[in-house]
Amino acid sequence: MKKPPLINFHDFHPALGDFRANVLAGLKAEQKHIAPKYFYDPLGSMLFDRICELPEYYLTRTEISLLKQYGYQIADSIGPDALLFELGSGSSTKIRLLLEAIQPKCYVPMDISRDHLFQSASLLAKDYPWLEVHAICVDYADPWNLPPGLKGKNRIAFFPGSSIGNLTSEEAVDLLRRIAQLVGNDGGLLIGVDLIKDIGVLEAAYNDQQKVTAAFNKNLLVRLNRELGANFQVDQFQHRAFYKRDLDRIEMHLVSDREQHISIDDELIHFKAGETIHTENSSKYSVVGFHSLALRAGFYPVKVWTDPDDLFSIHYLQTQSEVN
Ligand code: AVJ
Repeated sequence: MKKPPLINFHDFHPALGDFRANVLAGLKAEQKHIAPKYFYDPLGSMLFDRICELPEYYLTRTEISLLKQYGYQIADSIGPDALLFELGSGSSTKIRLLLEAIQPKCYVPMDISRDHLFQSASLLAKDYPWLEVHAICVDYADPWNLPPGLKGKNRIAFFPGSSIGNLTSEEAVDLLRRIAQLVGNDGGLLIGVDLIKDIGVLEAAYNDQQKVTAAFNKNLLVRLNRELGANFQVDQFQHRAFYKRDLDRIEMHLVSDREQHISIDDELIHFKAGETIHTENSSKYSVVGFHSLALRAGFYPVKVWTDPDDLFSIHYLQTQSEVN
């Protein structure tokens, strides 16, 4: 009989109570909002994987082609003896393109979507029997730490997909600072960042013809109905995504068609006709714009890879060397 692949699983999944409290606070705010991390229930994670395959959604495709093309340069920058951890690892498809080249000592996928994480990490461990895998279910917006005793001295964070774009630049600097602390002196960060570009291209990526992004956005309401006992009529809300030039970001909203009340438990939420729930920011950066953000967090630019059409960038950044 074959030995089952060994993976170590650490569960810090946030409590349902936090979900309820956060959603209610957001829906009572002047501009109603719900954090994008709540998109990723099992169906939401599936829909996101479909978004990544859409013809309009150039981000994933372009980042993957960069990882394929420059994998050995990337591995060279990172160096040996890596303890590699990934923020928001999802299906762990991108890291597979780098594992052979980097040959890390340990891989630590972290994601908020517990079952999806567990499945993906187990599959990966099976395919890379030489690799030590520790999966951590955690909301990386909360404080967290790496478990003690992991192999690899060279701490490297992998944060692909331009997920950093979900944060405002202040929040992004905060998160990068925490990553800098975690990797310590001489640590590294390999991060995918979507580039500022033609608005038509950007808006098409979040308004696909097959309406998968709309389904992804609206699935949030389905989730609130199921998990929090809300009574949203999903067909009375429309998907809206547009680029805000002054803030260099895509915003996604759910627009209420009409005036209505929604109940969650004993709370009643009022919607004016046309009122929106802000569900996501997706910030875009220039290469130099991202460099200055990283510097504010204590990371120094080492190398950046971009595609010929300047759609997407992958940065390798490092913290300061130990001074002695
Ligand atoms: C996973 C946050 C990078 O902002 O492009 C895709 C999520 N939302 N389509 C992005 C998303 C709508 C995605 N990130």
